[in-house]
Order: sequence, then structure tokens, then C-alpha cells
Amino acid sequence: MKAVGLYKYLPIDDPQSLVDLDIPQPNHPTTGHDLLVAIKAISVNPVDTKVRRGMIPPSPTTEEKEKNTPRILGWDAAGEVVESGSDCTLFEKGDAVYYAGSISRPLGTNCEFHIVDERIVGRKPKSLSFEEAAAMPLTTITAWEALYDRLSLYPDTIREKTALPPLQRPTAIMPSTLSDDDTNKRQHHPLSILIIGGAGGVGSIAIQLAKNLINQSAVPSLSPSLFSGINVIATASRSESVEWCKKMGADYVINHHKDLKSQIKKVAGIDYTDYILCLNDTDSHFERMKQLVAPQGKICSIVETKAPVDLGGILRQKSATFVWELMFTRSLFQTPDIVTQHHLLNTVADLIDRKKIKTTLTDLLSPINAENLRKAHRKLESGTTIGKIVLSGF
Ligand SMILES: NC(=O)c1ccc[n+]([C@@H]2O[C@H](COP(=O)([O-])OP(=O)(O)OC[C@H]3O[C@@H](n4cnc5c(N)ncnc54)[C@H](OP(=O)(O)O)[C@@H]3O)[C@@H](O)[C@H]2O)c1
Repeated sequence: MKAVGLYKYLPIDDPQSLVDLDIPQPNHPTTGHDLLVAIKAISVNPVDTKVRRGMIPPSPTTEEKEKNTPRILGWDAAGEVVESGSDCTLFEKGDAVYYAGSISRPLGTNCEFHIVDERIVGRKPKSLSFEEAAAMPLTTITAWEALYDRLSLYPDTIREKTALPPLQRPTAIMPSTLSDDDTNKRQHHPLSILIIGGAGGVGSIAIQLAKNLINQSAVPSLSPSLFSGINVIATASRSESVEWCKKMGADYVINHHKDLKSQIKKVAGIDYTDYILCLNDTDSHFERMKQLVAPQGKICSIVETKAPVDLGGILRQKSATFVWELMFTRSLFQTPDIVTQHHLLNTVADLIDRKKIKTTLTDLLSPINAENLRKAHRKLESGTTIGKIVLSGF
């Protein structure tokens, strides 16, 4: 089958960094929970570029080195089930699916046929093409787990907190600096989340999910009621990325290259944000997040740090929470709740089909070959991507 892979972990400008290959096709699911999927479209994430550069595991296994087996990258995919394993109950042959795979399996999605555990697979949104669907899964799982599983942004919790009299709320309100419009908005949206890196792949879906919160008791049922009662302050630094964040539903957009505190005060009239979701450069944003998070607030980061982070000082004084999100945790450790990712992808497919959430696809390349994949990796590595880059067809 056709595939794109690598033998050496190289910078993207090296033509050998990603090469066209012909590799043996997997004929059947490997385990009882596996699906064999015919890939129609894939999307590229920073994890693809980081593994390709040898920055993060999986680095080559001894067997791969000895046998000179190529590494096939790729996690996001949309496609059609060709065969389901003997223990599968969620999908069958012919089903259209979208998913983000597992970092612990050797074969990625940059090939014609792929094997994946059905418990981390969702049904493809009916209203989206395979290309539009392939843009979504990895970033959707990340944003969903960050907002719900790590930051506990449940509508009931938010309603409970906002029922407190204003002086007892963790976020200080400064009405004198607000216009009438802002004051009205503030009264109806008293809690706030700062999303650092709003226009990227994860930010684009995180903004939308934060404006469409649902009670977890509603999952996995379809058509749950939605709650938009939290202010979303996103960051972006260029006019096109600012516009994109607004299109995704951000209430305010501020510039991550400028002082965040004074901008937040100016646009939203607040001194602290209750929640912070860091989607870029945790090292350089960490000190600012410590200052900005509200007493008893929560910070979640999805980006690894180069240096250890200091959880003491003002964070301790504020009894603030800092928590990591890694969307591969459930598949990597085969946690008992691994099927949660199947349910959340189905719930988001439902929200997409109800027109509450939009695809984040912005750039489509075809076919899936080494030349186009190198283009996609180069663009991602520039750090200026808006939404998601997708490739389709072999
Ligand atoms: N832990 C996990 O499970 C997980 C999952 C997915 C991704 N990640 C990681 O999360 C990061 C973001 O992923 P992504 O797919 O959203 O990336 P992306 O699409 O490449 O992000 C691009 C965006 O980053 C913004 N940006 C650039 N420099 C920034 C800075 N200094 N501060 C804030 N924003 C900045 C840019 O906005 P402007 O052009 O407006 O500056 C651009 O729109 C990557 O490091 C990725 O590896 C982790």
C-alpha cells in the first residue's frame, strides 16, 4: 500500500525527512477491539513534526533500527471501516469514522490502511466531508479533555459559582471601567477563561467548545442542552488570526505578544481570569499565568516545558490548580475509561451536525504524498497556522 514515512529523523528542508513508500498492507485487525480502516483524509498536528524531528518519543525501536523499518507518522484520520475485530461492538464494516489514533502504535495514519482501537474512534459527522472531519479529532479530544476532565468546566459548577454575591466571587469586577454593553455582558457571563493560542488547531475548537458547554451527565446521549455562560478571552497576534478567533466565537481577543493583564483589564474589565488554557509556549507564558489566574482558579497546559515549572509562590497563595492535559494518556495507559474518547467524539459529531460547532479545516492539500506532507509540516513548524491543514486521497 502507499504510505509516507521516514528512515531518519531530519529537519523538514531535507528531502529525506518524509518519503513516498510502498509498504505491506495490514490485512486484518490486530486485536479484538481493533478496526481496519481505509483512510480517506488525514490532518497534521505539531506532534507529527515533533516526532519527525526526534524531539519527543516514539523514537525508533531497536527492531526498527536493525530491520531499517520506516516510521509511518500520522494520528488524525477520517475513513471507512473495512473490517472490525471479534470483540468490536461500536462499529462495523462500511461505517464512516474519524479518530486520532494512539502514540504507542507503530503504524500511523499516513498510509492507505490503518489499524485503530474502536474505543478511541467516533462516528464521522454526517454533515462533514471526510476532509472536513479529518481536521477535528486530535484537537477535539485535547480541548474537550482540557475543559472538562482537567478544568472541570461543567455548567452546573459554573452556575453554582456565579450564584455567589459579586463580592464573594473570585473574579474582581470593575464596573467603572466598563461600557454599558460590557457591563450587561459581564452580568450574564461572570466567569472567564483565557485561551492562549486561540487561532491554532486546538484553540479553534477549544473556543467553540467553551461557548457550547454541556453537562457531562448528558454524555453519551445525543442532543444535550448547551450552556454559553462563560466569557472566552482568546489570544492571537495577527489581524487574520484575530478575525478567526472571533469567527470561532471568542468574546474578546487580545495579543499574546503584549502585556496580557492590562489588555484583559481593558477589554473585559477584570483583574483575573477564573480558568486559563495554555496552548502554546508554556515556558514563556507561565509567570504571566500565575499572576493572571484567579484565587482558587485553574490553569491547564497542553504544551511540554523545557525547564521545570515553579508551582510555589503566588500559585500556592491563591490555592490555584495547575494541571497537564495529554490526549494520548488514555490510549497510552489503556485507562479503564478509554471509551470516553469514543463518546466525546460522537457527542461532538452530534454538535457539528446540529450546526453548533464548525469544522476547523482551513487548508486542503491533495494527494497524500511526501511532497504535500512536507509542505504541511513546514507550515505547521512556522507557528502561524490558523485552524487545521488536511490532506486527502492517495
Ligand atoms: N497535550 C496534548 O494532548 C496536545 C494536543 C495537541 C497539541 N498539543 C501541543 O499544543 C501546541 C499547539 O497545538 P496546535 O495544533 O494548536 O498548534 P498550531 O495550530 O500550530 O498553533 C498555531 C497558532 O499558535 C499561535 N502562536 C504562535 N506563537 C504563539 C505564542 N508565543 N503564544 C501563543 N500563541 C502563539 C499562532 O497565533 P498567531 O499567529 O496569532 O500568533 C497560531 O495561530 C503544540 O505545541 C502541540 O504540540 C498538545
